[in-house]
Amino acid sequence: MEFKKVVGNRRSIRYYQPWRDVEREKIQTILEAARLASRVMNAPYPKPVVVYRKELSEAEVNSFKTPTTTAQLDMAPVWIFWYANMDALKDAHENGTLHGLVDVGALNPSHGWSHSYIEDIVWAQLLHPLSSSKEIMTTLVSEETALAICQALLCAVDEGLGTQLVSCNFAVANEMLGVPSNYIPVWVQLLGYPAEDPQTGGQRPRETLEEMASEGKFGNPFVPDPKVTEKLREAGMIQDTAPAPWRQAELRALAHMLDLPE
Ligand SMILES: Cc1cc2nc3c(=O)[nH]c(=O)nc-3n(C[C@H](O)[C@H](O)[C@H](O)COP(=O)(O)O)c2cc1C
Repeated sequence: MEFKKVVGNRRSIRYYQPWRDVEREKIQTILEAARLASRVMNAPYPKPVVVYRKELSEAEVNSFKTPTTTAQLDMAPVWIFWYANMDALKDAHENGTLHGLVDVGALNPSHGWSHSYIEDIVWAQLLHPLSSSKEIMTTLVSEETALAICQALLCAVDEGLGTQLVSCNFAVANEMLGVPSNYIPVWVQLLGYPAEDPQTGGQRPRETLEEMASEGKFGNPFVPDPKVTEKLREAGMIQDTAPAPWRQAELRALAHMLDLPE
């Protein structure tokens, strides 16, 4: 699918076909999209675990639920638990990751980089102090993992799947998955074939572009050019905002089909 269309078509899907498995090939593709996301210092932050719902008992599925994550766990056949590696900077240093970027011509003398600059300045003065702060590392590894997750979400849409990020009872997950003590939970990504219309009756309501973005300084709105907006509509990136007139009827039909409360 064309990239702008992937962005435009993505929705948080909350109704999945529970009877239809996701091909392992698609899961692998999604994980690769995450692995290739940009990452500060090229360090290994994301540590996802793929779990198949059909291998869990009903009681186990229920034990993961939270006030905001309920019926979708009964339906989505694949759950990716996204964890973040608190030791990512230390691991990158031990593995010589930054030195590797010098070797491949990514970090170059033109920008001040060398092997000694990495050790004496970047590691000694910047990364080593950062890597010793739990508070800073928690923020850093979570946001870096979220960048990878964003690519995984878009890739799932490109693969024709429904997907959604959710919270879950991570105390249960940590125990069940045998999570190492240096990994912290971020989010769970659900995967499956959508039971609802994949476009869910339109894009979810958002603030406008000028409300979100400033130009030059804060408070000076970035005013969109209507010609560009029209081009993005034609490309499928900007679509009609929900709800479609048929959405409530669809929700009743889904509840009936999937034996959910109306
Ligand atoms: C990090 C993250 C966590 C989320 N957690 C939940 C959740 O626990 N339950 C839920 O129903 N939706 C969850 N969502 C989905 C958002 O509510 C959803 O993105 C929002 O309604 C906008 O809809 P859209 O994703 O279709 O554009 C989460 C989304 C993100 C990005």
